[in-house]
Amino acid sequence: MRLLGVANSKLCFVLSLSLCASLLLLVGLQQWGPSDLQLSPPPGQPPQALGNASRHRGASKPGRLVSDPPSAAERERSRQRVAKPGKPLRTGVREKGLQGFGKEPAAADQLGAGSQELLWDAAPLHPSSNKHNMQLSDLFIAVKTTRKYHKARLDLLFQTWISLVQEQTFIFTDGEDKELREKAGDRMINTNCSAAHTRQALCCKMSVEYDKFIDSKKKWFCHVDDDNYVNIRSLLYLLSAYSHTQDVYIGRPSLDHPVEAAERVKSDGSTSVKFWFATGGAGFCISRGLALKMSPWASFGNFISTAEKIRLPDDCTIGYIIEGLLEVKMIHSDLFHSHLENLQQIPPPIIPRQVTLSYGSSEIKRNVLRVQGPFSLAEDPSRFKSIHCLLYHDAWCPAKDRH
Ligand SMILES: *[C@@H]1O[C@H](CO)[C@@H](O)[C@H](O)[C@H]1NC(C)=O
Repeated sequence: MRLLGVANSKLCFVLSLSLCASLLLLVGLQQWGPSDLQLSPPPGQPPQALGNASRHRGASKPGRLVSDPPSAAERERSRQRVAKPGKPLRTGVREKGLQGFGKEPAAADQLGAGSQELLWDAAPLHPSSNKHNMQLSDLFIAVKTTRKYHKARLDLLFQTWISLVQEQTFIFTDGEDKELREKAGDRMINTNCSAAHTRQALCCKMSVEYDKFIDSKKKWFCHVDDDNYVNIRSLLYLLSAYSHTQDVYIGRPSLDHPVEAAERVKSDGSTSVKFWFATGGAGFCISRGLALKMSPWASFGNFISTAEKIRLPDDCTIGYIIEGLLEVKMIHSDLFHSHLENLQQIPPPIIPRQVTLSYGSSEIKRNVLRVQGPFSLAEDPSRFKSIHCLLYHDAWCPAKDRH
């Protein structure tokens, strides 16, 4: 009888062990499901989301940012990665990708800045690269800034990437500025939030960004900071793989592990919730479908009270609402970059495929992208002018680099 008891408890132990193991396995599978993997290459591998397409561009244009054409083996490897089941991007989508998004380098060479906007809107996107018929006009890009950076930071953005997407770019700031108003018109939004760099002030701005996006009826909300370069072509390419009606939240995880916070919105704070969030400094995007679901916790100032309840910063609160409350998984992408990472570590050949870039603003510790010319480091400390000229050949770009 006693022996049987021992055997029983042993059996119980073994059974509970295997139950634990299968639970762990299940949790593991969910954590690393296809939505997480699709845009995050394994460490040390260059991001593949824009893989072959942008490489072809580079390969056909020697002396540009992209230097090495991919070897056959490399192409095969990325094909295999792409071909994994459950990934929304198909091989064909990636390979043909950039052709669809406006101009090819050859055409771009003949175009000045003035005609670019027209071209972007007029060019039909390649049908096979653009499963969801994404248009430039579907974008709502929110740039968060503050009064004191209107000149120091925004001018550079207007000169470079914003010039391509003026109609889609909305500046969220905290003070009137006649010059900026003339440039941006009613796409400059004075949030009336405090100019302090506090959690409350930042949440206040995010809350206005959210409401303006909902009002705009546009399909994609992308938030960036005033020290981000946005590669519009890469951004369109990335988003065109999804439908705005899907639940999409995509960006760079701020940490290498999820955040844990006390659950004070749905319950009394006695339980905790774990969630990932996309770091605001690298920029992130949210589909309209998902943004609408966030409404109970995000619209009309509710965002501020949600952030207050969990006492977390603005970008973290977005992650909390999406992962914690709506139980939608964030898509982790290595294509977004903030000034908090070591930007010198991004290999130059993959810089043109990145969706956002940044620069370190501290004079003491230089944190700049490794981009060769056409401007010197003294002329272009952020490297944004150089990147822009290498990508788009705007009218003001040095002529020597136009061929
Ligand atoms: C900020 O205040 C001005 C002046 O009162 C107002 O016109 C504007 O709508 C306010 N901005 C927001 C985002 O509420």
